[in-house]
Amino acid sequence: MKFSVATIIAATIAAVSAQVTAPTGVFNVSSPTPNSPYVAQQILPCTYQLFQDVDTTGITMNINLVSAAAGSNVSLPISTNSDMSKSSNSAKQNGNTTYYEHSVNYMIPTTVAPGDYKVSFVANNAPFDIPITILPAASSSLISKSGSATGSSGAASTGGSIFTGSAPSRVNLDLTTKTLVALTAVAGVALAL
Ligand SMILES: *[C@@H]1O[C@H](CO)[C@@H](O)[C@H](O)[C@H]1NC(C)=O
Ligand SMILES: *[C@@H]1O[C@H](CO)[C@@H](O)[C@H](O)[C@H]1NC(C)=O
Ligand SMILES: *[C@@H]1O[C@H](CO)[C@@H](O)[C@H](O)[C@H]1NC(C)=O
Repeated sequence: MKFSVATIIAATIAAVSAQVTAPTGVFNVSSPTPNSPYVAQQILPCTYQLFQDVDTTGITMNINLVSAAAGSNVSLPISTNSDMSKSSNSAKQNGNTTYYEHSVNYMIPTTVAPGDYKVSFVANNAPFDIPITILPAASSSLISKSGSATGSSGAASTGGSIFTGSAPSRVNLDLTTKTLVALTAVAGVALAL
């Protein structure tokens, strides 16, 4: 429990620091952070900023979670017809610049198999993709159970069927997962000090 709080704090701090602009120039994305890990059954915050000088009327934004695994066509809607309004409730100030920020907090479902994904911000059919990695929900309990596979095998049996993913990639992911979890734990401890 303590651990997942640290994960959320670390993810939040990372999200604040990074910001990328869509090629269309219509919006920025400050979360998710590109190439960052997010944990299944936890919140994946999707935050975007609209620019004051861009007319967003008539622009439709959909946000999807899309598998990046080869041969997979898994795509889950995070948000359809997302908020493109520029009202005073969403207005924020950065120096002289006013922008409008909207956020969707997406709970990553248990059924999502761990692996590489992209969060696709689609404005008027033009996708802007942020690559992320989804870690198994059970991974945080691996720390205390020192490598016991009980938790992750349960997640794999429920979530594995969506993907044609093979066993070897899952083994690789487990190693990466432990590394990332360890790093996140370090970050959490550092923050606590
Ligand atoms: C959008 O992102 C760019 C690149 O990081 C940054 O320079 C700019 O200030 C951002 N604009 C807003 C309104 O957030
Ligand atoms: C992609 O989706 C279609 C329609 O649901 C399905 O028939 C097909 O098997 C899927 N392909 C893969 C590679 O998952
Ligand atoms: C804000 O606007 C004023 C007046 O146009 C300008 O002098 C100042 O440099 C601007 N500050 C920033 C941070 O852009």
